[in-house]
Amino acid sequence: MAFPATRMRRLRATGLLRDMVRETELTPAHLVQPIFVELGTDSRTPIEAMPGIDRLSISHAVEEAGELQAAGVPAVLLFGLPAAKDDVGTGAYDDEGVVQLAVRALKEAHPELLVMTDVCLCAYTTHGHCGVVRPDGVIDNDVTLELLAETAISHARAGADAVAPSDMMDGRIGALRGSLDREDLKETPIVAYSAKYSSAFYGPFREAADSAPAFGDRRTYQMDPANSDEAVREAKLDAEEGADVLMVKPALPYLDVIARVKQETGMPVAAYNVSGEYAMIKAAAAAGHLDERAAVLEALTSIRRAGADIVITYHAKDAAAWLR
Ligand code: PBG
Repeated sequence: MAFPATRMRRLRATGLLRDMVRETELTPAHLVQPIFVELGTDSRTPIEAMPGIDRLSISHAVEEAGELQAAGVPAVLLFGLPAAKDDVGTGAYDDEGVVQLAVRALKEAHPELLVMTDVCLCAYTTHGHCGVVRPDGVIDNDVTLELLAETAISHARAGADAVAPSDMMDGRIGALRGSLDREDLKETPIVAYSAKYSSAFYGPFREAADSAPAFGDRRTYQMDPANSDEAVREAKLDAEEGADVLMVKPALPYLDVIARVKQETGMPVAAYNVSGEYAMIKAAAAAGHLDERAAVLEALTSIRRAGADIVITYHAKDAAAWLR
């Protein structure tokens, strides 16, 4: 009996036809590399759970960005490690803060590089929460919004091409959009972490960014992994408030959420393949349990297949080299 055409066996048999009908394309042009920037001259601090990813001084970040561009990765997402922390995260909105300095240096050295910045307070507060904590221990949503807006403005003024609020406070997209517009930063897009789950997969990041909460957890403001209708509602709300790109985070355990957000909003969607997802593949590969290159390319292709236009991933540089 002949093979049914639906199985595409005849197409797969000729490599060229298989390639021509492939439904999903993974190219470096869709990838964003997160970079942790620290103060100090000429420093590079390894992150134990994330082999291959270091915290970089600004000089090394500039060098890294050059290598990323040469590999075809068009964009970076910056996280900063400030000189000092306090209760209200002053370092986040300091015009001379680590991210602001890094943005200026990166844009000066690589004007074509797309520089996005993470907008949050957690790496800048002594308590490690994403917002200002009231004496009764509750996060003060509205006071936090003002500080996040100041942070976004100072990033954009430093030259950031897009700002990415990751705090999950209520009303933050509207607040940021309004403030950016008033400051004549109307052209700065907002890449909103819209569906950000309260996830165990952020573990290695909290070591990298030194942002583990000193008490409690982030469950009051991050989403319950059991919910996907909520993700769609959050995403639609962010779009109404002015988000230009909607993000789902983490990526691999939430491919269904990526697909729903894409289908139900029709907006540009980004997915964040987070630190724990990276650490799992690196650890298994280092132990000889799987083929790193094949696993990474399969994972990133699957995130694209689910509906992500943009994939933020610590594998970006390696994947770009493999895809060449
Ligand atoms: C800050 C922030 C986090 C991540 C990105 N922005 C950590 C968190 O919410 O605890 C995680 C990224 C990763 O794990 O790679 N709010």
